[in-house]
Amino acid sequence: MQIERLEIRNYRLFRSAELEDLPNLTVVAGANGSGKSTLFDVFSFLKEALTRNVASAVARRGGFRELVSCGETGAIGVTVKFRESGGRLATYRLEIGEDAGRPVVHREILKFRRGQSGKPWHFVDFSRGKGTAITNESVYGQKGAKADWEEKVLDDPSVLSIKGLGQFKEFRIVAEFRNLIENWHISDFHINDARPSAEAGYAEHLSTRGDNIAQVAQFLYEHHRDRFNRVLQVMSERVPGVSGVEAKPTEDGRLVLRFQDGSFKDPFVARFVSDGTIKMFACLVLLHDPRPHPLLAVEEPENQLAPR
Ligand SMILES: Nc1ncnc2c1ncn2[C@@H]1O[C@H](COP(=O)(O)OP(=O)(O)O)[C@@H](O)[C@H]1O
Ligand SMILES: [Mg+2]
Repeated sequence: MQIERLEIRNYRLFRSAELEDLPNLTVVAGANGSGKSTLFDVFSFLKEALTRNVASAVARRGGFRELVSCGETGAIGVTVKFRESGGRLATYRLEIGEDAGRPVVHREILKFRRGQSGKPWHFVDFSRGKGTAITNESVYGQKGAKADWEEKVLDDPSVLSIKGLGQFKEFRIVAEFRNLIENWHISDFHINDARPSAEAGYAEHLSTRGDNIAQVAQFLYEHHRDRFNRVLQVMSERVPGVSGVEAKPTEDGRLVLRFQDGSFKDPFVARFVSDGTIKMFACLVLLHDPRPHPLLAVEEPENQLAPR
């Protein structure tokens, strides 16, 4: 599944913004305050709106008045155009407004268009907690097929319909889209959080701020040794002075990363290694994830790394 177009309305400084023809790898560069972090926050916002609800995602950003573009009174809108795994183009549109001081879904639509012409099928079409959902999505695309709908009511007008419906097998495409959003990852790596600590634990994916890097390293080391070795190999090629990295399990089951610095006889444990070395390690761990995220956004990837 691939995102092809993103439209943003009334979301902070984006009064009206469109991103088109998004390639697999997109680099966003621009002056301070030009909206790079806000763009990433749109992705985080959608994810939070789905996993929690719209009211909570808005509240965590200081409330509706803070979030909506200065001086605007209209709804906040996000539209994602994507190609589902069957290759068909789909559009998801979400409009959020305020009813009696509470952020609610004014409109939520997931629609598919067959071919260039033809009327799109609305798989879900909801407003303020009420709407319709398709009941025969499996016939979509078949010649002469007609869509059937069912009226549904959600228990909360701030919950997304794709959250409720995405849990049922008969809504495969809705579930696929819901999965896409739920599994995308916005990395905002903070070196002070990521400095390996002595805590043991279990984690398969790097967290947003990178504070579980030791656990993820251990997971890779134990369950995906080939990937772990590949990360170490790139490390030793890319970081001057680090001639070798070894992972040594300690007696109590923790993994200690030891970096061999060219100018010292004894290896260093990761705690004493430079910020850049740890950042490099974290980037490589993200890129070698055995179960890659459908969307991976990395905030300020250049931090701590030397330009070359
Ligand atoms: N509700 C709002 N309406 C209009 N502009 C806003 C709103 N909230 C924040 N901004 C502006 O958005 C900008 C934030 O940009 P940001 O995404 O952090 O930039 P970057 O990451 O590119 O440095 C700031 O200039 C801020 O004043
Ligand atoms: Mg920023």
